[in-house]
Amino acid sequence: MVDPLALGIAVTLTLAVAVLHFLPGPPWTPREDVTDEVLERRARTVSETEFPAPMNRAIGAGGGAVAVGGEAEGELEEGEEAPAEETTSPADIPDDEVENFDVEYVKEGETVAVANNETLLEAGEDEGWDLPYACREGQCLSCGGHVVDGDAREYVEHDGQEMLDDEELANGYVLTCVAYPRGEFSLETSETP
Ligand code: FES
Repeated sequence: MVDPLALGIAVTLTLAVAVLHFLPGPPWTPREDVTDEVLERRARTVSETEFPAPMNRAIGAGGGAVAVGGEAEGELEEGEEAPAEETTSPADIPDDEVENFDVEYVKEGETVAVANNETLLEAGEDEGWDLPYACREGQCLSCGGHVVDGDAREYVEHDGQEMLDDEELANGYVLTCVAYPRGEFSLETSETP
């Protein structure tokens, strides 16, 4: 048997919940746009970097502005040109700065003026001689030659030879494919230690 009192309370509560659910709430008002205020505050508190736009990220870049700020070592001023790279190979010597050295190719019976940006091998090939070579990178002994006058380091500059040790160089051995003249000397081609 249903208790009429309990039933009445239940119906009343249900109706009350339904009415409350559909009642309009207080009107919604959007929050004020504070973007400009935040940006202005950041502009006042975060120091400007010296990067030109668009890399200047002092505003809106978070911690990045601190990480990249300041003047990095070697950084170029605006309009400043990067310094020319240092010459790393005698082959890079410009033609207007080239020096020529007389090299006597003993076995070929000729003395040739060899530029100091030209290898002994190239100079011999320019003469039409069939000189031996393989890698042309200083990594074998195929192009070996011998400076008759003494320590090879006084007469040639090697650019990247990886085969001859100090003693062999001191005894006059060279790799003609990567050897550039520094003075006048006599060379025996096809000679290896
Ligand atoms: S050709 Fe290989 S070192 Fe000269």
